[in-house]
Amino acid sequence: MADPAWRAVRGRVLTFLAPPLGAGDGASYRYLADGLVLARDGRIAAVGEASPLLATLPADTPVDHYPDGLVLPGFIDPHIHFPQTQVIASYGAQLLEWLERYTFVEEQRFADAAHAAEQAVFFFDELARNGTTTALAFCSVHPVSADAFFTEAERRGMGMLGGKVMMDRNAPPALTDTAQSGYDETKALIERWHGRGRQRVAITPRFAVTSTPEQLAAAGALKREHPDLLVQTHLSENHAEIETVRRLFPEATGYLDVYDRFGLTGERSLFGHCIHLTEAERRRMAETGSVAVFCPTSNLFIGSGLFEMGQAREAPAMRVAVATDVGGGTSFSMLRTLAEGYKVQQLLGRNWSALEAFHLATAGNAAALGLAGEIGTLEPGAFADLVVLDARATPVMANRMARIDGDLEEELFVLMTLGDDRAVRATYAAGRLIHAAS
Ligand code: GUN
Ligand code: ZN
Repeated sequence: MADPAWRAVRGRVLTFLAPPLGAGDGASYRYLADGLVLARDGRIAAVGEASPLLATLPADTPVDHYPDGLVLPGFIDPHIHFPQTQVIASYGAQLLEWLERYTFVEEQRFADAAHAAEQAVFFFDELARNGTTTALAFCSVHPVSADAFFTEAERRGMGMLGGKVMMDRNAPPALTDTAQSGYDETKALIERWHGRGRQRVAITPRFAVTSTPEQLAAAGALKREHPDLLVQTHLSENHAEIETVRRLFPEATGYLDVYDRFGLTGERSLFGHCIHLTEAERRRMAETGSVAVFCPTSNLFIGSGLFEMGQAREAPAMRVAVATDVGGGTSFSMLRTLAEGYKVQQLLGRNWSALEAFHLATAGNAAALGLAGEIGTLEPGAFADLVVLDARATPVMANRMARIDGDLEEELFVLMTLGDDRAVRATYAAGRLIHAAS
């Protein structure tokens, strides 16, 4: 009998060792043309050339072989909204109207535990189909939505992070908590879920528009009381939003300063969008070690603006991550997300190499979540969260690949430009197969 604790995945193995400095940075990754990832009890036990490693395996270790497949660490999506799957593709509105007309209506359905549980099944199926093994998610204001989220993640052995949104103004009454109840409910979620298996809770004030100063102070108190928790929110996505924040917080010097005043910036804080930061805000983001999360499909779809990756990297460099932002974002696929990210940089007259893009979607996003070494890498000791990609998954991809003679970076660029869920052959969470293409 095979020992179920062991599993091996064989294929063309790629993992990043350091942030690439640009195209052609061969020192930034490790690539094995015939490699093997060996998992034991959900974690990576060894990675190396297949032949010598195969000889050392315990008898009957199952080996899944993908001869042309590219085996990478599973994708990480550090900004996504769990209750917005049925909001994707809502027509004709920019941020504030889009929230009111579509999103705040949809999120009310997540007061119902049965609806939340049903949508959680769909949500995690979709992540797995797209090769995403970890996400940092906004749930709805209702604690039952976060319970549904974590329950389903745990059932699948996937490592997830999330929190119920705190919002106590400028939203329908059915969708608001109070400074006190937002604090209490988040605290209770921390007790129920934080550090239970692979699950982690994040402090989640939705954005400054929907929180009173009292609520932001409560979020700041939670951060002080639980310094290991992440904070996630939104920042400088849209001009009308920025103007509203200026009106609501006249004492602050700007949008970022609102969060800063309540102790919500820092190395464990992730701010979605950050498109329209002032130069002083960009410097303050860098100084506090806060992370700006680039959400290209959302920024294009909601018409919010163009995030400049090259500028973010200029000294003092701001930490960045890349995410889908479903359902403002239009795809669960990190490949589609990287494609749109590249196009945004093109519109700004900049470049974004495939190496940088794939690094960010794996090891870079892991670092943004404070989980470097745990996920986003194939180093021994990391969780065996894997995606297997096929650069010839569609006729157009196969036809294009016929012009590529073994160049890995060109293949990665084809994957990110033309790939989507069809390019995902298999996904593993903690060494378990959670999706296989039919
Ligand atoms: N700002 C506040 N809430 C949201 C949201 O749900 N989606 C996006 N894109 N921006 C937001
Ligand atoms: Zn968002």
